[in-house]
Amino acid sequence: MTIYHISAECYPVAKVGGLGDVVGALPKYQNEMGAASSVIMPFYNNKFTNSNKFKKVFGGRFNLGVPFDFDILTLIDNALGYDVYLVDIPGLLYTDYVYSSNDTERFLGFQIAALDWLVQLDHKPEVVHCHDHHTGLIPFMMSQCYAYAQLKNTPSVFTIHNAQYQGWFGHDKIHLIPPFDFSKVGLLDWQNLINPMACAIKCAWKVTTVSPNYMEELNYGANGLEDLLRYESGKCVGILNGIDAELWNPATDDSLIKNYSIKTVATGKKANKAWLCKEFNLNPKLPLFAFIGRLVGEKGADLLPDIFHNALVHKNVSIFMLGSGDVAMEYQLEKLKYQFEGYYHAYIGYNERLAHIVYAAADFLLMPSRVEPCGLNQMYALRYGTVPIVNKIGGLKDTVQDFENNGFGILHDGATVHEGSFAIHRAINFYNDTEQFKANRNVMMKIDHSWNSSAQAYINLYNSLIL
Ligand code: GLC
Repeated sequence: MTIYHISAECYPVAKVGGLGDVVGALPKYQNEMGAASSVIMPFYNNKFTNSNKFKKVFGGRFNLGVPFDFDILTLIDNALGYDVYLVDIPGLLYTDYVYSSNDTERFLGFQIAALDWLVQLDHKPEVVHCHDHHTGLIPFMMSQCYAYAQLKNTPSVFTIHNAQYQGWFGHDKIHLIPPFDFSKVGLLDWQNLINPMACAIKCAWKVTTVSPNYMEELNYGANGLEDLLRYESGKCVGILNGIDAELWNPATDDSLIKNYSIKTVATGKKANKAWLCKEFNLNPKLPLFAFIGRLVGEKGADLLPDIFHNALVHKNVSIFMLGSGDVAMEYQLEKLKYQFEGYYHAYIGYNERLAHIVYAAADFLLMPSRVEPCGLNQMYALRYGTVPIVNKIGGLKDTVQDFENNGFGILHDGATVHEGSFAIHRAINFYNDTEQFKANRNVMMKIDHSWNSSAQAYINLYNSLIL
């Protein structure tokens, strides 16, 4: 089965968030199951593209008001476990960032170039799997645009990683979309705007999202798409994301200060914690709480300064924060450093290697998210023997059970400072109950969140469309 995943991100080529992790791992697992799964993504100007060699497999030209030349490139030495095809559009997509303010044109160009290439292949795709709104017009273009008539009967799957971002733009840009039967213009529209996410929900053969619980939540909270999702519910399904259990393995992870397995978790975590605490001037004897992620309201990052403050005044915890995003939140989080020297550190930025060390070093990982379609960080934490403290929503609800309810993590009900602070209070008691806390690490590390079962669920879904 030939599957093409189309996405703006794919780790390690380019990653901003969880989308990159998912598209970087799912095809690998699908290939191991005998499918022929590959990725189409933009060719950005970044460390990965600058330090690897590529060869051209196709060249073309499309019109977006003005003509653009593009190449489809592929890696010469590829150890990713799947083929990756990069769409290089100089002057449009070849940028040193992934997202920006002119994304409408950039990702329209990307989608057109990808389809211009796919449509002329001798061996056509059997399934086209699009991820998030940057690829949301593809199911429409495959089924409606004259230029892609040969892909009309090819099944398309669309995965919603986050319904907050829909990629909408005005009808004044409709001429940028390749010609189609204009009586079908309604498929593009949602509330008088061209809405790529809404359009994909209408046009894709199947719509998935990244956890069963988020699928439920979307019926009453989808940033304006609730009615549409309810109407299309027959073709929608929630499939829980997995993690790349080879990349995220504390026994082999070469980012770590010391590797460890279930048997050696106590000494392994201790060594990583000692390093992190020394490096960032924290007290290793205290329970270490961490936050890793984008500093945006969706992740509850605006609550962190107060939650941290409430905990730090007692001087019985260490806290490490790794992330970047909203400038005001960065400032607030940075400021706390001077007030709680020796107990708190904020690392503003993105640092993949440091993130791995933090998962290994921390005792607890905080995720007070308001919206969390799946969340991968709690699964990385579990794999590294770190207790996730999460707000009970989205995929967090599907993956974490409370330790006081036959589970292994800490759940709180609502993204508020009070709930977050009370959860930390419960966590400290849990930590002090040393035997239970230690035994719990083994329980967490045994949980299998690898892609094995979910990659198969997607294959079953594709099969239902092909056969
Ligand atoms: C988005 C969601 C996150 C999810 C990820 C991968 O980043 O916000 O919850 O885990 O996509 O699907």
